[in-house]
Amino acid sequence: MKILAVNDTRAGLGNLKDTIETTGFELITASSGQEALQVLEKEYGNVSLVLLYWNEPDTDGYETLLAIKGDERFRSIPVIMLCADYYQPKEMQAFKAGANACLTIPFNQKDLAAKISETLGKRGMILAKLARISNLPTAPPVLVALLQKLNDENYTIDDLVSLIEEDVALSAKILAVANSPAYRGTSEITSVRTAAVRLGFDEIKDISMVAIISSSLSSLTIPNLGRFWIHSLAVGYTAQVLARRAGRKFPPRLKGYLFTAGLLHDLGSLVLYHLFSKEVQILYDRLPETDLTMYQLEEESLGIDHAEVGAYVARHWKLPEAIREAIAFHHAPWQASSSMKPLVSAVHLADFICNNQEFSWIDDNFPREFDSSSWELFDMDLDDVPEIIDEVKEIGQKSEIFAALL
Ligand SMILES: [Fe+2]
Ligand SMILES: [Fe+2]
Repeated sequence: MKILAVNDTRAGLGNLKDTIETTGFELITASSGQEALQVLEKEYGNVSLVLLYWNEPDTDGYETLLAIKGDERFRSIPVIMLCADYYQPKEMQAFKAGANACLTIPFNQKDLAAKISETLGKRGMILAKLARISNLPTAPPVLVALLQKLNDENYTIDDLVSLIEEDVALSAKILAVANSPAYRGTSEITSVRTAAVRLGFDEIKDISMVAIISSSLSSLTIPNLGRFWIHSLAVGYTAQVLARRAGRKFPPRLKGYLFTAGLLHDLGSLVLYHLFSKEVQILYDRLPETDLTMYQLEEESLGIDHAEVGAYVARHWKLPEAIREAIAFHHAPWQASSSMKPLVSAVHLADFICNNQEFSWIDDNFPREFDSSSWELFDMDLDDVPEIIDEVKEIGQKSEIFAALL
């Protein structure tokens, strides 16, 4: 994310660059009002804030402010006016024209950093930090390759075995899982090919996904990491159960995404804790005393929740749109696009069921409500609940065994 400084003399930009980088943004500049508008157009969607110098002859800060705020595309970008001779009426004039904040020149760099973070709010600062993705894990190519093939009918078990065999660590992990009490047959499995034959295409695909995802996220930690993975696995399996029970009502084109969507739905929680552990820990500690659930607390105190953060990472990883929507809207399935709604609803309901069946990963985080239109979409009613719960309990045991191997 970028901050645009409009300054014709370029004086003081050296310091400005350092200050802006400490806030997590990249500084870009324009030397006239006209150039500023061109830059905003070119960088549409990437500029988080504009710093406008009021008094310089070529930039004509006030005119530029009017132009930015008069343009529907740029109106929502916050502007801080920098001015050497503020007096109250001038400041009023700036606010009236839509400026979000004013700062008197000369200012010290600390004041500017504080003004930027105050103007953007926590949400803006978090998004800026996310944009500097250097400390976020990158998507392993094998995950991207596998996700692309998820719904390809021509993708065979042989293709999958070859993909897995290229990765020694992944192969070892899959053999460990295939030989675990959750899966093991009568004899020991010693090759990926035998594992694939024994377990079947869908099962080996799911196991590969878990092994790839857990190792690519191994640099991220969170309290209750073991429970986090049990929960994620259980949601993935439960989403599959719900879709299976829905039969034809669940679109076949989305089936291949169910498990991975469930597995990744709380990805943003890992990332949020990784980046803001102190702030997030305070929210965990507040859970027992509040009726709010974790995502509501995040939204209230950070201005952003783990669903949005997870969706951001999914976009960064170039994951398929289906997975990104499932992550983004698992707490608000009514916001999903109609084509993805069945998938998002399956993950939403699976998350609700698992959290209420003791497969949550944080205490006191039980969602009290679920989206009833999601339930209707699956044509289920209260009579189905006991059977679903029985299945989920079995799934939970399988998830526990599986998670222990991650
Ligand atoms: Fe969640
Ligand atoms: Fe969850």
